[in-house]
Amino acid sequence: MSLTELQLEAASDQAEAIEQRLFELGAVSVEFGDAGDEPLFEPPPGAHPLWTTVRLKALFTDDLRAEIAAAALSEHSLPGTSIPVSAIDDRDWIRAGLAGLTRIHSGGDLWIVPSWEAPPEVDGGVFVHLDPGLAFGTGSHPTTAMCLAALAGAPPRGQRVLDYGCGSGILAIAALKLGAAYALGVDIDPQAVLATQDNAARNDIDPGRLDALTPEAEPALADFDLVLANILAGPLVALAPTLARSARPGGRLLLAGLLDWQAGEVMAAYRDEFDIDIGAERDGWVLLDGCRR
Ligand SMILES: C[S@@+](CC[C@H](N)C(=O)[O-])C[C@H]1O[C@@H](n2cnc3c(N)ncnc32)[C@H](O)[C@@H]1O
Repeated sequence: MSLTELQLEAASDQAEAIEQRLFELGAVSVEFGDAGDEPLFEPPPGAHPLWTTVRLKALFTDDLRAEIAAAALSEHSLPGTSIPVSAIDDRDWIRAGLAGLTRIHSGGDLWIVPSWEAPPEVDGGVFVHLDPGLAFGTGSHPTTAMCLAALAGAPPRGQRVLDYGCGSGILAIAALKLGAAYALGVDIDPQAVLATQDNAARNDIDPGRLDALTPEAEPALADFDLVLANILAGPLVALAPTLARSARPGGRLLLAGLLDWQAGEVMAAYRDEFDIDIGAERDGWVLLDGCRR
């Protein structure tokens, strides 16, 4: 499908109204970006800050509609800025976004291999073949990479593993490939549940060894030897009671998705039930490593 892109810059207090208008004018997607150079750091839960000046990019399936939208919105763009309209090449957008993705050595014998690449020729390699689809989890993000390195460093052989916030299923599948007996993936996003099931099939995982569910399905959360959760600091704090009852006494807890300055707050939420400390740090992100008392 060929697409036409329209771009305009607007003040942050105008951005949502313009987004609404773009959809009314036939846009099929609208993306917000930084029109200046104003980094936004991780906001507190529930906050959705915008840049002072926002660049909106809208996609249309019809170039005429895009031209009409550009004319209709001319008075809303910032003074002195134009509203360029341009054709976008026809290509597979999901694949294009993944184009930079390649094989990743996660540590030990563990490798993450995109589904369109051949595994490396290494002796004793454990390969997770992965297509993230619409879900998060390619192995390249520091938070995922730290979890994978922890799994590779202490393979959970024979264990029952919970991957809470499973995304593409990368952690659950890596645990199974490293010898776990069973893994449960849980995610609030149904696309992630589907991606996990697809990736499990891609890796020839016996269906009896992995379940992937949304929390609404009320999965049985108890007696796990290893609990992994790579989410964000806010949800990790909120999920502390759920994850605590999921781990058996003596079980291991690995938490990721938090920045170094958030470690104290997250550890405090788990300290009643776990001995917990920082296990690894990468690019400002930390991995918390705990043991259920
Ligand atoms: C950062 S991704 C991690 C994906 C994968 N486990 C990895 O390590 O790459 C976080 C995932 O957690 C899910 N998530 C966010 N909040 C959640 C919650 N409260 N309960 C369950 N899943 C949640 C998101 O939908 C997303 O798929």
